[in-house]
Parts: sequence; C-alpha cells; structure tokens
Amino acid sequence: MGYSVTTPIFYVNAAPHLGHAYSTIVADVLARHHRQRGDDVFFLTGTDEHGEPVANVAAERGITPQELVDENAPRFEAMGPVLESSNDFFVRTSDPRHKTAVQEFLTQVKDNGYVYEGQYEGWYCPKCADFKTDQEIAEGNTCPIHGIALIRESENNWFFKLSAFQEQLEQLYADRPDWVVPQSRRNEALAFIKGGLQDVSLSRNAITWGVEVPWDPEHVFYVWWDALLNYRTALKFGREGSDLTESHWPPTHVIGKDILKFHTIYWPALLMAAGLEVPKRVMVGGFLLVDGAKMSKSKGNVLDPFAAIEQFGADAVRFYLLREVAFGQDGSVSFEGLKLRYESELANDFGNLASRSLAMVRRYRDGRVPDAALDPEIAAAFDGLGDAVARQLDEGQISQALETIWERVRRLNRFVEERAPWTLAKAEKNDAASPEALDVVLHTLVEGVRALGVLLHPWLPTSTETLLDALGCPDLAWSGTTLGSGTPTTVGELAPLFPKDRAESSATA
Ligand code: ME8
Ligand code: MG
Repeated sequence: MGYSVTTPIFYVNAAPHLGHAYSTIVADVLARHHRQRGDDVFFLTGTDEHGEPVANVAAERGITPQELVDENAPRFEAMGPVLESSNDFFVRTSDPRHKTAVQEFLTQVKDNGYVYEGQYEGWYCPKCADFKTDQEIAEGNTCPIHGIALIRESENNWFFKLSAFQEQLEQLYADRPDWVVPQSRRNEALAFIKGGLQDVSLSRNAITWGVEVPWDPEHVFYVWWDALLNYRTALKFGREGSDLTESHWPPTHVIGKDILKFHTIYWPALLMAAGLEVPKRVMVGGFLLVDGAKMSKSKGNVLDPFAAIEQFGADAVRFYLLREVAFGQDGSVSFEGLKLRYESELANDFGNLASRSLAMVRRYRDGRVPDAALDPEIAAAFDGLGDAVARQLDEGQISQALETIWERVRRLNRFVEERAPWTLAKAEKNDAASPEALDVVLHTLVEGVRALGVLLHPWLPTSTETLLDALGCPDLAWSGTTLGSGTPTTVGELAPLFPKDRAESSATA
C-alpha cells in the first residue's frame, strides 16, 4: 500500500534549529513505522524558497534571493542525514519541475471557476507571509506569532474563492472528526471556519520573487499556494522513474500549530477546487520552548540540533524531543534535560536492560538462548502491543505510543529484579534448583528485548539496529513485535548502546 508522509517545507531564511528538526523526527517515526508494516512509503521534506520571508532577508543582506536560497537550502538538506531522517526526497520549490506543476495546477483551479481578480485591503505579516483576518490580529495591530507590527496592504490581486467551500469544509470536519489531531487544533480550525470564510489572495504583485502567474506575468503566486502544492507536485518527480501521484495520494501531514490555517482550511479547499481528495490526516505539533519562550530564529534562542547530536547522538535527540514534549503540546527543552533523559532512560532503563540481558545469556548459557517457555506475565504484558502502538501512531499519538512501549521497558526491568537471575544461577550451581527456572527468565528477557528493538526502531533507528544485529535478528518487520515470533538462538557481544561518558563531557551550549 502506498503511504506518504510530509514535513512542512522550511523557509530558507536562516539556519535550521531544533524546532524544524522536531517535525522531521515525527514524520520520520511515521515513515519508518509504515515501512515496518510493509507499506510502500514516500517520505517528503524540503524547502520553501519563495515569498517575503526569503526575499526580505536577502534584501537585508544585500544578496539576491537566489543566492540566499542556494546558500541555505543545502543546510536544511544536510539536517536530514544528521537526524537519521529516512526521507525519500528533498523538494525545493525553486525546482523548475515544481514551478511548472504549480502553474498548471492553479490554472486548472481558475478554469474550474474559483479564481477572480479583485482588490485586497487588509493586514499582513511578512514573517508569516499571512493575510490576517480580524480574529487573528493581536493588540495594536501586531502579529500574535511574531509580535511585530502588521503591515496595511492594499493591492490588486487574483483571488481564490475560499468562501465557496464554507459548507464543504464544515461537512469534512463533521464527517471526519479526527482528520485534524489533536482535538484542540481541530476545534480551533473548525471555529475559524464557522466564523465565516473570506476569499483569499492567490497572487501578489508587490513582490517578484515567486512563481509567475501564467495568465498575468505581472504577478507571482502567493507563496503559501506555491508551498502547499509541494505535497502534490513532488509525487511526480520525487522517485526516479515512477509517478506516485495516484498511488501515494492522499498524504499524511505533520505540521506545527502556527501553520494550522493553511493546512486545515486553505489546503483542503484548494484540493476540493481541483476535484482532489483532501489529506488523510493533519497531525499538529506544538512549539518547542527555551526557558518558556518559543524557540525561533526571530528570537535568536535556538538550540542547535547539530551540536546536540554531536554530543549525544541522533537517537538520543530524537528520543528526548518526543519524550520531553508530548506531541501536540508546547514544552521546554534544554541540554540539561537531554542529559538527564539520556542517563536515566536511555543508558539506565533501556541500554542497561539490553546489556545485562545479553550478558547473562553469555555468562550462564555460553551465549546460547535457552529453548524454554515464555514467562506468562511478561507474555501477557506484551500481548497486543504491536497493534496498540500502530493504532496510536495512526492517530498521531506519537509520544503516547512511545510511552506505551516504555511501560514494557520498565516492566522487563522489574522482571529482572523480581526473578533475580543471578540468584537462580547460584541455586542451579548448588543443585538447589533445576535449570528450567533460569531458562525461562533468560529466554523471556532476550525475546522481550528483541521485540522492544523492533518496537522502538522508529524512534531509535541506529541503536535498535545494533541491538538486533547482536541478537542475530535484524528483521524489522512489525510482525516481529509479537513475543515469541523471532527468538534469537545465540547472542553476540553488545557494546553499551548509550555510553555514560557521552553525557559526562560538558554541555555544548
Ligand atoms: O512555516 N517548535 O516554514 P518555517 C516547534 N515555510 N516547531 C517549530 C518551531 C518550534 N520552536 N519553530 C518552527 C513555514 N517550527 C512554511 C511552511 S509548509 C507548506 C510551509 C515549525 O521554516 C513550524 O511550526 O517558518 C513550522 O511547522 C515549521 O517549523 C516550518 O517553519
Ligand atoms: Mg515560521
């Protein structure tokens, strides 16, 4: 089955920070998970290179917009491999193939009768590239997201008849109550729709950095239409030799809450205007905060993902962000917090569980995993786990899914303490116990650790592969989440998955 998942495409007006990395990691978890389920995954990310956010920074720096995007786009592209992102393609909206497809698509929307010429008069935020409606304006005509003064715009524009989709959008929200998650964001979008939709600019003539409007070359398309369309256009050229437009539509979108209106109102309306199916689901994340304020390039309080990863590794940063900040909510992040979770959860809870389980098989059974029954309590604790996690991921409960798995990490740790295999080994040696008791414990532990390796793979891609290799069971298929489905026969050497000394060197920022 085709499955496509996307991140927002990033404005290339500054360097990437952890806020950008966050969307990429969430989408990557979904992409990896769906590959494990056997889906034909297309995971798309990229850069949004047109519009004022880019043009203004280029002007400030005295370079052309093209020079700016050519300098910055590679920095965003380079973030992918560093995060262990498995994206299948990186789209740039300056790509001529994208631009042509945008022109064709929007011409079709015009031919369908949803475009007209008119006069725009209203408030505009150049950082959001957003025409604000009355309900979106903060005190003193400022932008509620960026805090800057809004600009009074008045220009002759081409308009998109958003108001024509009032009823269809309300119907969409009624028919599919969970097409936007979490609920709070869905309700926010629905309230905006119910407030009454006004038509919105399709083009700009005040700026020139954009995709030319084919029927009126004095205009460029308003950057948001050009940007949203990446999700569609890239399907045509994102995989060498195939056109995924049919097989991979509709996509699942991962976005931040600041771009809710565009993805949950404008975008489905535009797709309806073109006669296309709306996205499968829009998953909306909150903000990463630093000392309580939004991490943003405008505030200059960004955490550098490259520095964090250099110290702790990509797995740890991925894990930390999704564990610390429940997806959908805002939350503060820090190097100190990363270090704490690294030590307590990755090194102690999971890394140590894996190390000691394998070490005990080596010590007590010469590295051969005993052929024994599974402990019934642990078997019960893992029963149905793969399905439960898959369901949570489908519903956008990314952090809850991780917690569901982590409960089993803690359960296995308790199991080790309860059964005390070292005591069983001693009893066995003194002929005070039959080998069977220890066999069951070791078999259950190794099999539990293997299943956890499969379950945790989307969050911890590198360390779980190392672990599964040491168990001689590299298969990542989701069916392997069932306890007893793939018991290793022998175990190899396993170096610490999360060495403690990584956390000991001083914080980088
Ligand atoms: O909005 N915490 O690009 P962008 C969490 N080009 N997420 C954050 C964040 C933070 N501190 N800071 C930014 C754009 N983000 C458009 C998107 S899509 C067709 C076009 C998230 O580079 C933010 O919420 O300003 C947004 O989803 C994404 O990074 C891209 O931000
Ligand atoms: Mg932004």
